[in-house]
Amino acid sequence: MFHKTIIVVFLENCLPKAEVICTLGRMTETGFGIDIGGSGIKGARVNLKTGEFIDERIKIATPKPATPEAVAEVVAEIISQAEWEGPVGITLPSVVRGQIALSAANIDKSWIGTDVHELFDRHLNGREITVLNDADAAGIAEATFGNPAAREGAVILLTLGTGIGSAFLVDGQLFPNTELGHMIVDGEEAEHLAAASVKENEDLSWKKWAKHLNKVLSEYEKLFSPSVFIIGGGISRKHEKWLPLMELDTDIVPAELRNRAGIVGAAMAVNQHLTP
Ligand code: BGC
Repeated sequence: MFHKTIIVVFLENCLPKAEVICTLGRMTETGFGIDIGGSGIKGARVNLKTGEFIDERIKIATPKPATPEAVAEVVAEIISQAEWEGPVGITLPSVVRGQIALSAANIDKSWIGTDVHELFDRHLNGREITVLNDADAAGIAEATFGNPAAREGAVILLTLGTGIGSAFLVDGQLFPNTELGHMIVDGEEAEHLAAASVKENEDLSWKKWAKHLNKVLSEYEKLFSPSVFIIGGGISRKHEKWLPLMELDTDIVPAELRNRAGIVGAAMAVNQHLTP
C-alpha cells in the first residue's frame, strides 16, 4: 500500500526533467502477463489502461514433459527475451489456492501440490509474482476491457479449448477456482463433452457439438441462473456457426478479448496484488 502511494505521488509530480521519477510512475501503467497452455507459453507487456499489448507477444512451445521446473525455465526465458524487470502475473490451467497448484487436468500431474510462488520466485529472481487460474485471468480481463456484459450481474465466463475453464463474476468481481469443466453432465465431465478439443478430436459437426454444449450450459443454467454466459477460447471467433443452435433461456455472448485475455488478466492480477 505504501509503495503504491509513493508511485501515485511521483506520477502527479512528473516533471519533464524528472526522467527517473517518470519512468517509475509509468511502471503502474505497464504490466507483464504470462499464459501457460498445453501447447504454448505466451507472454507480453500489457498496457494496463487499455488492455492492449505494448509489443509483440512472445511464444515458446510448452516443454515436454511440462514439469514445473521445465515450464518455469521457459517462463524465465520469455521474461529475459522481453527484458522485463517488473512484477509478473502467470496463469496456470489449474486450481491455485494460497499460491499452491491443486489440480492438473490437462497439465503434468507433478504440478499438484507445487508451491508455484516459490517455484517462479526462484526462477525470476525474487520479483513480485501472482499465479492464478487461466480462466479466472480471462474473466477479470474481460470484465475490465472486453464485453460490457461481463461487468454486470452474475456472469459465467467459459473458455472452450483443450478443456473448459470457468470464471464466476458478480458485478465484475471474481469468485475464483470454480472449475465448471469438471462438473458431471450425463455421466461425463463437461469438458469431455463440449470442450473445443472434443469437436476437433472426434470430428463432430457444428450441429452435434452444439448439442453437447447446449446440454452442458443447460445444467449450468439450472444450477446457477446466471444473467449471461460469455464464451471465450478460439471457438468464440466462429460463434456464427454454433450460437444460433443454442436453445437456452439465458443470453450467450462471445468474449471480446480472445487469446489476449489470459495474458492481460495475469498482468492485471499482479498489478492489483491479487493472490488467489
Ligand atoms: C482445468 C482448469 C482450466 C481449464 C482451461 C481445465 O481442465 O481444470 O483449471 O481453467 O481446463 O484451461
